[in-house]
Amino acid sequence: MEILIRATPEAVAKQAADIIAGYARNGSVLGLATGSTPIATYQELIRRHQHEGLSFAGCKVFMLDEYLGLDPQHEQSYARTIRREFTEHIDINDADVFSPSGNSKDPLAAAAAYEQHITSEHVAIQLLGIGTNGHIGFNEPTSSLNSVTRMKTLHPQTIQDNARFFDDAEEVPTHVLTQGLATIRRAGHLLLVATGASKAAAIAATVEGPLSAMCPASTLQLHPHATVLVDEEAAAQLTFREYYQYADQNKPAFQRY
Ligand code: PGA
Repeated sequence: MEILIRATPEAVAKQAADIIAGYARNGSVLGLATGSTPIATYQELIRRHQHEGLSFAGCKVFMLDEYLGLDPQHEQSYARTIRREFTEHIDINDADVFSPSGNSKDPLAAAAAYEQHITSEHVAIQLLGIGTNGHIGFNEPTSSLNSVTRMKTLHPQTIQDNARFFDDAEEVPTHVLTQGLATIRRAGHLLLVATGASKAAAIAATVEGPLSAMCPASTLQLHPHATVLVDEEAAAQLTFREYYQYADQNKPAFQRY
């Protein structure tokens, strides 16, 4: 696993944008995430599109997850969120932005259809946030490390963490469709970003803890090309941080972004 520690959330966003831009230039399939952490990365990518000629032409987007029971036009649906925060502001075809169908009458069939669709493509890079409980996508603790796209019940902690996006915690959907951990691992490159002290324990468990369904993000340990990109606060509980910084500073030229 590659661990990149940057001084500030702004530096994390710039580094994430550097990495994603490399894939965008090749018209790749991009796996994207919602949540508050990636917003600064999206803003940096939009800025590069508007002012530096970065193009996403030919790219497709697959989202990680979606709330069940929200119309795709609902402001807090993830289909709407990714458009509002990112894809409406760049040169990507709206018809090439895909999410699990959160308002399907048959969520199990919708999950299977999304799994089949994403399996038919090669996701070059998957951007990931991480929950305070170690979830990625909506794979809550105890999710099978070999799970595929399916319906999940949200942990009350996740509902509480996400209530800030809704007028009332009662409005946060209790069920979701999410790519599974095996689905996520099929992407060519996994890029997990985290900032702030509230993520420090989850990052330590992901990078240095045992491979465990209790920390779904630890599935990155099974991936041959996983990058964990964090600020100083989120890195605070990493025991080997000096080694990670040494390895980052002494990276061979062919590995630099
Ligand atoms: P956050 O969410 O970026 O808003 O902290 C991350 C997640 O829950 O996956």
